[in-house]
Amino acid sequence: MTGDNGTYRPLQRYAHITGWGKALPERVITNKDLAQIVDTTDEWIRSRTGIEQRHVAVDPDETTATLGMKAARDALHVADLPASKVDLIICATSSPEHIFPSTASIIQDSLGAVRAGAFDLSAACSGFVYGLTLANSMIVTGQSDNILVIGAETLSRITDWSDRNTCVLFGDGAGAVLLQASAIPGGIMASVLGSDGSGGDLLTVPAGGSKQPTTLETVASGQHFIKMDGRAVFRFATRVMAEASREALAKAHLDINDVDVVIPHQANLRIIQSSMRQLKLPTDKVFINLQNYGNTSTASIPIALCDALDEERIKVNDNIVMVGFGAGLTWAATVLKWVAPPAHDVPRWRASQRSATYSLARVRSRFLRFSRKVEGSLVAEQDSGWSKVLTDRISRWRGTKEE
Ligand code: UT7
Repeated sequence: MTGDNGTYRPLQRYAHITGWGKALPERVITNKDLAQIVDTTDEWIRSRTGIEQRHVAVDPDETTATLGMKAARDALHVADLPASKVDLIICATSSPEHIFPSTASIIQDSLGAVRAGAFDLSAACSGFVYGLTLANSMIVTGQSDNILVIGAETLSRITDWSDRNTCVLFGDGAGAVLLQASAIPGGIMASVLGSDGSGGDLLTVPAGGSKQPTTLETVASGQHFIKMDGRAVFRFATRVMAEASREALAKAHLDINDVDVVIPHQANLRIIQSSMRQLKLPTDKVFINLQNYGNTSTASIPIALCDALDEERIKVNDNIVMVGFGAGLTWAATVLKWVAPPAHDVPRWRASQRSATYSLARVRSRFLRFSRKVEGSLVAEQDSGWSKVLTDRISRWRGTKEE
């Protein structure tokens, strides 16, 4: 495109959410269930947090990656995009499957997103908004067209179920969005990211990393579980949610009266109410669903987005603020104009076709694992003619052969 003075001006690109999805484990644990295992009551949990129940992944085969993958599949289904067209997968998580490989790479493999880069993002409960912000930058600068941003957690696996200060708060689940490049103005307009590492000890999993590697002692003393100074995190959260929202709105040249919906991190009803009072935002503009899920960390905002859309709380041209806080300490807010069309009906044959590609992705993954084993066993014979031919074939098939 040529500008007024004849200089080349690239077309402006915008990043829009065009697909969304969520996944929750089947098993629901109510406050009353918890009162059976720790010294708490339904009344205490409801009045101090707003939480009524949470979903917990009790099946060992249900993991952060499987929940993230299900949410991502739904997002691709809504956007009607094949996984092969995804350029990048960002998985924000506080309960990754491993230190490495990344949960995002596991999701990439299971989706068959063969062209996508993948990495995990560690910014605790702010992670999803961090991921959106990063994905937006990749899209507006022309690096990527289609990015999956996922928030996925199985916090129940790092929760001390004998600690009433924490076990009543958290839940498992995943949410995902597809961000797509578009020339239509709107989408993500401005973001604010923040961190104050001096508060790192307020919310932490002390052991299992490189500072305090796993030992019999760390396990015996429960250092692999979430530890939290709830009151200090509460004070930090009530201050930072309002500040970050205001800052992001100012960057987007909007004020609080322009806001149609706020989707806050769903940690505690009292934190949300206090922050919204500071912003002088009417409660009907705030979306809250924490009563059903508890605090699902990185997944809480995308799950809330899905529910808000299901409940038709979001309309075209709405200005939406997403704002979160978490361990780190970190905080993040983003302002976006919603221009995505409402979910359209994807023809049944295309849904079946897509689900067939996921089965193929599983076969492909198994074949790749097997081929690596074959290749490994041929290394000793590297110089002999037939084994070299075979390893070359395998590498070429995998697309890893250096010419
Ligand atoms: O994504 C970020 C994650 N973290 C958060 O968002 C946490 C932010 N903080 C909070 O949400 C709140 O601080 C809590 C919900 C964790 C706690 O609420 P609080 O109103 O700040 O309670 P408190 O910590 O001041 O504790 C009040 C009392 C204490 O008893 P004493 O010392 O007054 O006798 C606690 O021992 O409540 C007791 N208590 C409980 N009682 C029944 C703490 N947990 C429980 C419980 N059931 N589950």
